[in-house]
Parts: sequence; C-alpha cells; structure tokens
Amino acid sequence: MGYTRVTEHGYRYPLVDNDPPEHTRARRAVQNQFSPAAMARLRPAVRQAATGLVDAAAAMGEVEAVTALAQPLPDLTIRLLTGIEPPDPDTMASWGDAVGRLASADADPWHSELATDSLEWLAAKGVPALPEHCMGRVIMDSGGEDGRLAEDGLERLMMLDSIWLAGIDSSGSLLANAINAFAEFPDQWDAVRERPALIPNAVEEVMRWDAPFRSFYRRTLAPANIGGVDIPADADVCVIMAAANRDPDRFADPDRFDVTRPDARAHLAFGASIHLCLGAPVARLETVEFLTALAGRVRRFERTGEAVRSANQAVRKFSSLPVRLVPA
Ligand code: HEM
Repeated sequence: MGYTRVTEHGYRYPLVDNDPPEHTRARRAVQNQFSPAAMARLRPAVRQAATGLVDAAAAMGEVEAVTALAQPLPDLTIRLLTGIEPPDPDTMASWGDAVGRLASADADPWHSELATDSLEWLAAKGVPALPEHCMGRVIMDSGGEDGRLAEDGLERLMMLDSIWLAGIDSSGSLLANAINAFAEFPDQWDAVRERPALIPNAVEEVMRWDAPFRSFYRRTLAPANIGGVDIPADADVCVIMAAANRDPDRFADPDRFDVTRPDARAHLAFGASIHLCLGAPVARLETVEFLTALAGRVRRFERTGEAVRSANQAVRKFSSLPVRLVPA
C-alpha cells in the first residue's frame, strides 16, 4: 500500500498540507467562519434544505438514498456556507470523490486531473459568480478575516477550493452511513424518535461506528514512539481512525451501535490536534438537521435492494443504498 505525498500531485492545500507556522496563519484566517455564531446563522437555511429533501423523499416512499438524500444536502449546505453556486450534482460528486482520494492509496492521475478541473472551474466560473457578503468573498477579496492569506499565487483559491470540496464526499458519506445504521438497528431509530434530544449524540455515534474517513497519512518530522513502536523520522505513517473508533480499550462493546453511548463524542472521525476538521461544526449541524427532519417523517428504513459500498480506500461510503421510507 502506498500513498501520494503532497508534492507529487502538484497541489498544496493551505491547511491540510501544511505545518505551522503556515498552517496556523492560514487556519486563523478562516476559523471564525465556523464559529458557533456563524453556525447559528447557517442553521435555519440548512434546516429548510434538509426538510425539503426529506419531504420530497418521503413523498416518493422508495428512494435511492445516496442520490435522493445523502448527496444533495452537502451540495446545498456548502453552497449556503461558501456562496459558491455549484455545477450539476454529478460533477460535484465526481470532484468531491476525487479530492477525497487525493492523499489515499488508490488515488491515480485521473483523480488529480479531476481536482485540477475543479480548481479551474472555481477560478473561471465559481469565483466570478460569488454573491456579495459570503465566505468565498471574504477569502478571495480580503484574504480571510485577518487578511493574511496571500494575494499572489494560489493560496486564496486553494483555501476556498479545500473548504468547498472537503465537505462534499465526507458529509455525503456520513448521511448515507447514518441511514444504513438505522436501517440495520431499528431499535436505535425508535430511541431517537422517542427522544429527539438524543440526535446530537446519535450523530457522534454514527461517526464513531462508521466513520467517513477510514485513515489519514502523516509523515514524521522527527523520530517518534507510539504505543511502544519506534518510528523513524521521515516515515510515512497511516493513522487508521476507523480502528481507533472501535478500540475495545477505549469504547465498551465497540461494535455495538448505541445512540445513548455516553462517550461517543470521543471518536477520532474528525481527526485530532491542529488539523482537527475545520468543517466539523458544519458536518454536525447538517447531520443533526437531517436526522431531525427524518425523525419527524420516517418510522422505519427498510432496504429494498442491495446496499453497495463504493470501491474507495479513502472514504467509506455507499454507491447505492435503496431504501423504503416507512411513514411515521
Ligand atoms: C462528516 C464529515 C467530515 C468528516 C468525517 C471530516 C473529516 C476530516 C478529517 C479526519 C480531517 C483531518 C485531516 C488530517 O488530519 O489530515 C479533516 C480536515 C479538514 N476538514 Fe473535514 N470532515 C468532514 C466535513 C468537513 C466539512 C463539511 C468541511 C468544510 C466545510 C471540512 C473541511 C475540512 C478542512 C478545511 C480540513 C483541514 C483542516 C486543517 O488541516 O487544519 N470537513 N476533516
């Protein structure tokens, strides 16, 4: 198994591909866009989007949950967040998929080409069409909240591109994984419907039990010892968060999907430390609103065909998840 080191695919994202001090400077420039106050402003529109999608799907009864529910909500949410008017859903899905794979073992030149296409589209079409007063403008026109994103080169565009596409495949995977979990464990869906206050914890439990990103790669800058294993400097290390999330030394009965689990939030699905997912508040918000809308309208998720996982080493997602939404 191998992976693509940052410099080999020709891009450098200002956050995920950088160490301090560059990372610190770049993250400070955008961090406030994800503050609790910013999320409170975003929530009503995401709620409306989630309710609209769930209403339409519930009216159909039987749906392909990936295309009817899991893919469209992140597209709508990221548009509300950034101001970028997206191209068609299939293009968004293929760009989100490609960017999600960039640093993974199964990335190939085709994925780099798609990532380049997304950047070129953003520069040529997405940025010129940005409305006034949106995150896209704060980044592109002002260089972030404190104006410290470089004006020359690609830094501003790469920042906007990474925020834009990092939240597509990741959140889409989480929403479908949630439906799958509740189809498999209807008693847990009953619990959520009986006590909607459990929904935020249920979101954490879906992230722990079936994390979108299985793993990330790191390169050591200095020798390290992790869990008694010596790792030399300049080594490629695969951090398997999905395994940590099912660690029996950390989580009691880890394979059990339990929406009341008291320490569900201790999962590593958003990573940890300085690279902790910047968009985690957005992912949490949209998934809470999604499950809330479903809980009001759907009593059961019943599989109507085979659930098919996507062949993808980076993101654990479904390519097909046909379900019947049994009305509440
Ligand atoms: C369920 C959905 C999501 C999951 C599971 C997820 C997961 C992650 C993980 C594991 C990392 C750490 C990467 C590393 O350590 O190298 C990360 C970083 C990041 N995520 Fe997310 N993410 C999600 C949604 C989002 C959304 C919605 C956005 C944007 C709106 C976003 C933007 C970012 C960015 C910009 C970084 C880089 C942060 C940095 O390096 O400082 N993510 N994400």
